Amino acid sequence: MSNDQTSLLRPVASNPATTPELTPALQTSVKKKRHEVVNLLKAAIAEFGNLSEITFANSMGAEDMVLTDIIQREALPIEIFSLDTGRLPTETYDLIAATEQAYQTKLKLFFPQAEPVQQYVRTHGINAFYESIDLRKTCCFMRKVEPLQRALKGKKAWITGMRAEQSTTRVDLPLRQFDAGNQLEKLNPLTDWTEQEVWAYIRMFEVPYNKLHDQFYPSIGCAPCTRAVAIGEDVRAGRWWWEDPLNKECGLHVKK
Ligand code: ADX
Ligand code: SF4
Repeated sequence: MSNDQTSLLRPVASNPATTPELTPALQTSVKKKRHEVVNLLKAAIAEFGNLSEITFANSMGAEDMVLTDIIQREALPIEIFSLDTGRLPTETYDLIAATEQAYQTKLKLFFPQAEPVQQYVRTHGINAFYESIDLRKTCCFMRKVEPLQRALKGKKAWITGMRAEQSTTRVDLPLRQFDAGNQLEKLNPLTDWTEQEVWAYIRMFEVPYNKLHDQFYPSIGCAPCTRAVAIGEDVRAGRWWWEDPLNKECGLHVKK
């Protein structure tokens, strides 16, 4: 049974960002960009190998659901993994289950190591990430970055759902780059997609998505570090909203 209590309790206003008008021009643009993504992923498979060489980091956000849909529909031999930080919103866990059901597949989940998390919480408290940037970054390191390093071990390339227009820290995000920190190629096939194209894709192909997006959560991470945004606010304004927007990244995507 899915946990849908929040939508019963809170009436959901219609969100123009998640329901774009599917004009012929928008649909054409989405189909063209989809074709380009398929070509890019097929070229990567030809270059790097198969399932054990290329992996896709799926946060279950809207962009990542587009990539999941493309990989599954095209039956591309690309592994899909998610980092379960232990603090994800209930809606994200519901989406993981719905995705596995919709595509009849299993996502490879990575968890933080128990010992450092236990030590951190016992020393600093369960919500210590609000207290300082250092404590926030330590929490992100043990719940996301270290598990990411395990997920990428032995791979030749990884794929993300990042887009250039998401943030001031991503404006020059290329389609492909060498990830020096993790020592492998990094592909960002959706870098030139607009938010409108992402949502048009989701509607056109009836892709499962996180119900929080309809409640004005354009970017979703851990529950305590994510809030809804006001109309017109930056799409990542609801992530670590108490920190300086110029450098709020969790450490998964470090510019070198
Ligand atoms: S974050 O660095 O601020 O957390 P964001 O949520 O924008 O990143 O996601 C950017 C990309 O990072 C996603 O498209 C995905 O490829 C990867 N990513 C982020 N969080 C996760 C996660 N929990 N599991 C797997 N991949 C993730
Ligand atoms: Fe910890 Fe928040 Fe980072 Fe999640 S986003 S790992 S809860 S600091």
